[in-house]
Amino acid sequence: MNNTELVRVAGASKSFGPQVVLSECDLVVNQGEFVAILGRSGSGKSTLINLIGGLERPDAGEIHVDGFRVDRMSESRLARFRRRRIAFVFQSFNLLPHLTAVENVTLAARLNRTGGRRAAEALLDQLGVAHVMGKRPGQLSGGEQQRVAIARAAVARPKLLLADEPTGSLDSTSAKAVIELLTMVHSGEMTIVTVTHAADVAESASRVVTISDGVIAHDNERNSSPVGHDVENGTREAGKRDAQRDAQEEDR
Ligand SMILES: Nc1ncnc2c1ncn2[C@@H]1O[C@H](COP(=O)(O)OP(=O)(O)OP(=O)(O)O)[C@@H](O)[C@H]1O
Ligand SMILES: [Mg+2]
Repeated sequence: MNNTELVRVAGASKSFGPQVVLSECDLVVNQGEFVAILGRSGSGKSTLINLIGGLERPDAGEIHVDGFRVDRMSESRLARFRRRRIAFVFQSFNLLPHLTAVENVTLAARLNRTGGRRAAEALLDQLGVAHVMGKRPGQLSGGEQQRVAIARAAVARPKLLLADEPTGSLDSTSAKAVIELLTMVHSGEMTIVTVTHAADVAESASRVVTISDGVIAHDNERNSSPVGHDVENGTREAGKRDAQRDAQEEDR
């Protein structure tokens, strides 16, 4: 694992009406980490992952991804930024219903200019769902759809893969397959942040963080230094990088 910072959530707060969900929450994720986010229902796990992916904006604080302030980006810039760097796996899969499995993955590869049908087929084969390639999402089981959704996310070769309860609605065999896939995708050097309720997903992760009372209450980093140290150093270093890269991006 290297120590290049990919995600920095700094003092992020988010409320919905009177309900405070996140309160000055801090989290730094380095490139190559596989982070599992745990917490009770309603603790703000999805909210945190949505903030990181720029699907929600914080009321206060900063969200940095790959050195850029996603919380300050315009919607159009955010859309471009996400397409280049971030892939989501939602619990509801969000596959396009009128396209076959292989067409769903191929489309993502083409949109991201990371390949075409051959890359899609290779990935589906690797993920053990080559036999359902020609079927539409409605003809696939939940586990098969989940694997196609992960293939679609991975084929774009994003720096960051965000997954919200990727095993949430699956039986234990399908869930195990999904965990293996995430582990496989991760070993290909992708950074993964996944929300989960499942102990076995957490076990596969290189780091487990728990949200409670609007902040990261526990941070179990295997093979890493204590979080306070990382946040301080990372903040300073990334601050410099951000300033440079923001200026470059604005120039384009
Ligand atoms: N758009 C919204 N409008 C109003 N309240 C919201 C909205 N999104 C989330 N909330 C509330 O914020 C709290 C945190 O929601 P969030 O979805 O982040 O929880 P979670 O930890 O992902 O829970 P679960 O494990 O059940 O998915 C919940 O009480 C939820 O009702
Ligand atoms: Mg949730």
